[in-house]
Amino acid sequence: MDKGSTVRDMFQRIAGRYDLANTAMSAGLDVVWRKQAAAALALAPDARVLDVCCGTGALTREIARRVPDGSATGVDFSENMLAVGRKHRNPDNVNYVQGDALALPFPDACFDAAAMGFSLRNIPDISACLREIGRVLRRGGAFVNLEIGKPGNPVIRRFFYAYFYGVLPQVGALVGGDRAAYRYLPQSLINFPDARSLADLFRTSGFAQVRCIPLMGGIANLHIGITASAPALDAPQLAVSSA
Ligand SMILES: C[S@@+](CC[C@H](N)C(=O)[O-])C[C@H]1O[C@@H](n2cnc3c(N)ncnc32)[C@H](O)[C@@H]1O
Repeated sequence: MDKGSTVRDMFQRIAGRYDLANTAMSAGLDVVWRKQAAAALALAPDARVLDVCCGTGALTREIARRVPDGSATGVDFSENMLAVGRKHRNPDNVNYVQGDALALPFPDACFDAAAMGFSLRNIPDISACLREIGRVLRRGGAFVNLEIGKPGNPVIRRFFYAYFYGVLPQVGALVGGDRAAYRYLPQSLINFPDARSLADLFRTSGFAQVRCIPLMGGIANLHIGITASAPALDAPQLAVSSA
């Protein structure tokens, strides 16, 4: 089975307990980080925003509240995750669509901004996904990616990895009820690029003005870029600011 099918099957299985497991594993930090991701887009009230790999829609709803005259569209390939999302109290300007992040079911340039939360690690071809997001954004549209990171500070990294690779799979298995799925979760970080390499992938995939904002010493990162017309070969170097 390819990586995409394995990932979809896994989220199909854990959908019912995904929200609870998330809160238990992150002690609620995921909520704060999604707010920071949505704020980083500096959205106009009438913006049309896409949440890629929206899962149960936590980030979609956070975005929707910031665009009362616009819309927030969540797209995900797991129907079970979307079904849980639809059961939440969604603002009227939210809609959910089933689709693959590598072949988004939307025309070119139809969104003003896009976001992605805790999902890029699961995508087999990161550059292809970034180019696909760039395709559906209007020129000058912003994209923010929120993802678990690899902290640069050795002390923070040591504590974080002890938790992420040691404790988290146990908590996830207990609360999420699927041991294999929560063994996969930390494994998905191993081959994921570090903050600087991911910023480079943003640039070579057509984003300009790329910034990385480390959250809690780089335990998570926000990467933000603006769509340019062509790959930004002369884009400025990675700017790292603290949140
Ligand atoms: C860890 S969850 C994150 C969900 C949500 N963004 C959040 O912040 O809680 C990852 C989501 O990505 C979705 N996903 C993974 N690969 C995908 C792909 N190629 N196309 C669409 N959805 C995908 C999964 O179905 C799952 O819902």
